[in-house]
Amino acid sequence: MDEHPYTSGLEDVHLVHNSVPELDLDEIDTAVTFLGRKLSLPLIINAMTGGIKEALDFNRDISELGVQFNIGIAVGSQTIALENRQLAESFKIVRKVNPGGLILANVAANTEPQMAVRAAEMIEANGLQLHLNVPQELAMREGDRKFKGLKDNIAEIVRISPVPVIAKEVGFGMSRETARQLFDLGVHILDLGGRGGTNFIAIEQARSGVLADEFTSWGIPTAASIAEISSLNLPLQLVASGGIRGGLEAAKALALGADIIGIAGRFLRVWSEEGKKGLEEEIERFRYHLKASMLMTGSKTLTELRRTPLVIGGSTAHWLTARGIDVSRWARR
Ligand SMILES: Cc1cc2nc3c(=O)[nH]c(=O)nc-3n(C[C@H](O)[C@H](O)[C@H](O)COP(=O)(O)O)c2cc1C
Repeated sequence: MDEHPYTSGLEDVHLVHNSVPELDLDEIDTAVTFLGRKLSLPLIINAMTGGIKEALDFNRDISELGVQFNIGIAVGSQTIALENRQLAESFKIVRKVNPGGLILANVAANTEPQMAVRAAEMIEANGLQLHLNVPQELAMREGDRKFKGLKDNIAEIVRISPVPVIAKEVGFGMSRETARQLFDLGVHILDLGGRGGTNFIAIEQARSGVLADEFTSWGIPTAASIAEISSLNLPLQLVASGGIRGGLEAAKALALGADIIGIAGRFLRVWSEEGKKGLEEEIERFRYHLKASMLMTGSKTLTELRRTPLVIGGSTAHWLTARGIDVSRWARR
């Protein structure tokens, strides 16, 4: 499932090393507050279902890991459970297992607003992800072809939702223009889901999709998308996702301006191959690598990490410069 012919651009982003950090690993603090909850790590296991036969087992395992590590989790699209109530159990399990943790609901952005609210209520969610996936729909033979009215629908969901709404891309990234439009609709949390990880065009093409293979390069790489949106300086909370595999890439994304990281495909692969124990070890490794990266930049907290200098090169620098964003703002701070 996790097909990624292109990179996230985070390989172009370099944290500047500090030889005398004056810190012990034990005092590195990776806590973050997101949606009013204090998490121990800036990490969300991002939305996944559809195609996972063992949805109940997967959701139970990630909820238990959510409790164990005090991290967030998002369920996959709940549309099927809104249509067939018997399927709701595979989603409700996440709240049963983790009554006090951070859990995000998930529906398509064109979901009828009352239904979207029901999805959030189904799992007593702390936030509601609305996924945006136009390229994926266009790649599917039977996918949607009508996208007018999406913005009004999002604004209405924001108006009636009892919990904060998160607009979420699924691997094609968000430009600063998109971010600004969503912000103006009242969406103040964005999951930019950049190109570089799970590639739904490649996945759909493998299943006899109707876009050509050359479309697999479509989208804004994750690094460029984070930099574009954070350069707006809007009071947004930014979830960086799309091709992030571990703690070093997470540290780079956070230093570029993200508040929290979402990982989907990589975690699903580890879970499928090595089970819950393997995923537990993977998250443990994520924690160690994030802390090590923070220590080596002399950052005791995530706030300090977000002030550490970054050198951006390669095609990410090229992209940002072409878009009028001066990469020295990260290099010389
Ligand atoms: C098997 C699978 C199922 C997914 N299902 C959903 C979904 O139901 N809703 C959604 O918003 N995103 C879904 N996603 C997208 C992820 O949440 C994420 O945005 C995307 O995979 C990019 O992150 P990654 O590169 O870490 O995988 C799915 C991803 C995978 C791999």
